[in-house]
Amino acid sequence: MFFSKDDNIKLISNNHQLKHAMRLPRNRRTVIVGGLFAFTLLIVLFKTDKLRPSCSYRDGDESTMVREEKFVQDKDHNNYVYHRNMPLVFIGGVPRSGTTLMRAMLDAHPEVRCGQETRVIPRILQLRSHWMKSEKESMRLEEAGIHKEVLNSAIAQFCLEIIAKHGDPAPRLCNKDPLTLKMGSYVIELFPNAKFLFMVRDGRATVHSIISRKVTITGFDLTNYRQCMQKWNQAITTMHDQCQEIGKERCLMVHYEQLVLQPKKSMEKILEFLDIPWNDSVLHHEDFINKENGVALSKVERSSDQVIKPVNLEALTKWARQTLFLLTKCSHFISVFLFSVTGYDPYANPPNYGKADEVVKENTNKVKKNQELWDHKVKQLLKRNEEGDENDDNQDDNPNDGERT
Ligand SMILES: *[C@@H]1O[C@H](CO)[C@@H](O)[C@H](O)[C@H]1NC(C)=O
Repeated sequence: MFFSKDDNIKLISNNHQLKHAMRLPRNRRTVIVGGLFAFTLLIVLFKTDKLRPSCSYRDGDESTMVREEKFVQDKDHNNYVYHRNMPLVFIGGVPRSGTTLMRAMLDAHPEVRCGQETRVIPRILQLRSHWMKSEKESMRLEEAGIHKEVLNSAIAQFCLEIIAKHGDPAPRLCNKDPLTLKMGSYVIELFPNAKFLFMVRDGRATVHSIISRKVTITGFDLTNYRQCMQKWNQAITTMHDQCQEIGKERCLMVHYEQLVLQPKKSMEKILEFLDIPWNDSVLHHEDFINKENGVALSKVERSSDQVIKPVNLEALTKWARQTLFLLTKCSHFISVFLFSVTGYDPYANPPNYGKADEVVKENTNKVKKNQELWDHKVKQLLKRNEEGDENDDNQDDNPNDGERT
């Protein structure tokens, strides 16, 4: 009867101190029992408080490090915090597959900033992947105290600094370095809440574009269409494997042709996947070129002269007329992948990619009619640097990369 009056005592009835307390007057007992509870509560609170930061950042010995919050500031002095758990967006794919168009459309959204290719992010990821592939090197690093968590934390911070600071601050940051997807699952290890958009385009069109625009990519022989098809096949296979490993929740395959033919439907799906609210501005990226919070273009990126135009059908089937005779030669070995995964018909020339939205047809007519105006715009905006042709657009330190290991 006595115990049932006070539920607290029941809970700790095995405690020695309680047995002692029972001999004391009742008000003293209450004080002691209450004190014990307050003490336990404090310990619990203290513990959970200590646990909290190490849940969000698992990079080794937390207690000895002081963690400062990092942020960038816009011109109105609003702070944008950046950290490893933020929902970054990564756009990947074989170069010349519409990655620039994709990022330009996202850049037009008021809440998103992708920006130009950083070039250094895929390189540092690849460097690390070489260190890890060498047993000797990774053992040496381990012996030097550079454990996995230390390295991951350092590489993540490097990437974050570049992503956060190479352009305007924005609530949602995004990165487009096409080859990063080759190390996609590692990127997700660094940034567990990141998502990938995997741009896929008919390989014949991609290769035609790489060759005709002289886009140097390590491993691609620009004089050999067939060899480029093989390289395309390898690269896209690696990326496709990575995308599958990452999973449907975090990696969405986007067909360039569908994005161009039906931009509204495609962008609705993409923004929903990224948890970004709809805004019509993504359908008019050309209105935001080099404007504040808009689409910043690089003078030396190959695709800049194309994305200043509205979404149009110019690039969709250009390849077909020029590569017809080559197709029969190599379709036997590319057909498996074209068919089974990307869904393109290797024997159709060009395949029927689908029906275009009215607005896209109108855009295409506008672009065709005003060719001179667009040429002028291109010149004005980019003042393109033709010497750039000698430089690697997509340097890849390992010539065998893309080979499946
Ligand atoms: C779209 O973004 C603009 C700013 O660029 C904003 O004024 C407008 O309200 C947004 N529309 C929607 C539907 O959120």
